[in-house]
Amino acid sequence: MTDKIRPRRSCLAVPGSSQKFIDKARTLPADQVFLDLEDACAPLAKPGARKTIVSALNEGGWGEKIRVVRVNDWTTEWTYRDVTEVVEGAGANLDAIMLPKVQTAEQVVALDLLLTQIEKSMGYEIGKIGIEAQIENALGLTNVNAIAAASPRVETIIFGPADFMASINMKSLVVGEQPPGYDVGDAYHHILMSILMAARAYDKQAIDGPYLQIKDVDGYRRVAGRSAALGFDGKWVLHPGQIDAANETYSPLQSDYDHAENILDAYEYFTSEAGGKRGAAMIGDEMIDEASRKMALVISGKGRAAGM
Ligand code: GLV
Ligand code: MG
Repeated sequence: MTDKIRPRRSCLAVPGSSQKFIDKARTLPADQVFLDLEDACAPLAKPGARKTIVSALNEGGWGEKIRVVRVNDWTTEWTYRDVTEVVEGAGANLDAIMLPKVQTAEQVVALDLLLTQIEKSMGYEIGKIGIEAQIENALGLTNVNAIAAASPRVETIIFGPADFMASINMKSLVVGEQPPGYDVGDAYHHILMSILMAARAYDKQAIDGPYLQIKDVDGYRRVAGRSAALGFDGKWVLHPGQIDAANETYSPLQSDYDHAENILDAYEYFTSEAGGKRGAAMIGDEMIDEASRKMALVISGKGRAAGM
């Protein structure tokens, strides 16, 4: 269950080639930081960035943040060196590898096997390093259930809207916003729901991708609010100004959290008072049963994880 997993409401993207951004990232209140070797890192900067990332992880100072490195996808010539250098160099100080443009379950299995080899050869705990799988094209979405189920290391399924929009020829240049001309609903609904279903079916976290208009925090809140309402666990942040918006949007409202805790207390009280023979209880005019208890558990789990 996701309530056992650490919160990832805000997942901060940081170019692995920039010492300045890495130093700044340590000070920011994001739940997760991911140091990027993929699109935020120019091809000639990648070898140097691997070294910068290894030092940054080993130097520490990341507090409670989940520490992730995004490697290049398996169709490039860089992936194996990204994984090997980073995990051999800093595997003890790393929580997960993010794999972009995942298209098949086999690509996850390949990363799982490589991680296991490195863990064995380095004497690390086997299976400790997680995998975050980005869904960024039609084939990846078609296979998303198998991708989520491909390895116990998979912790998150992430929507990559920019690459996804390009890969399906969507007629829009504004990432996360509705394509002009499509006025009959949310063009992303099917994609978000498919990712969410795969994540929930296999107890993974579902993470929404970037919003590129970094100065438009209201726009960020609007787009984040949609995936949060569906049940997503968090969203990428590309700029410090988006972090509070993410942390707030993917935490329950205080009033919902308080209500959820009341439901759990009332359900516990009434059902135990009846010696386990009663399946439902009342709070005021509201009937609560086992299904409402489960809904309350989700809100309370997210709230407790967020320190409410
Ligand atoms: C993120 O990687 C995206 O393509 O949106
Ligand atoms: Mg991408």
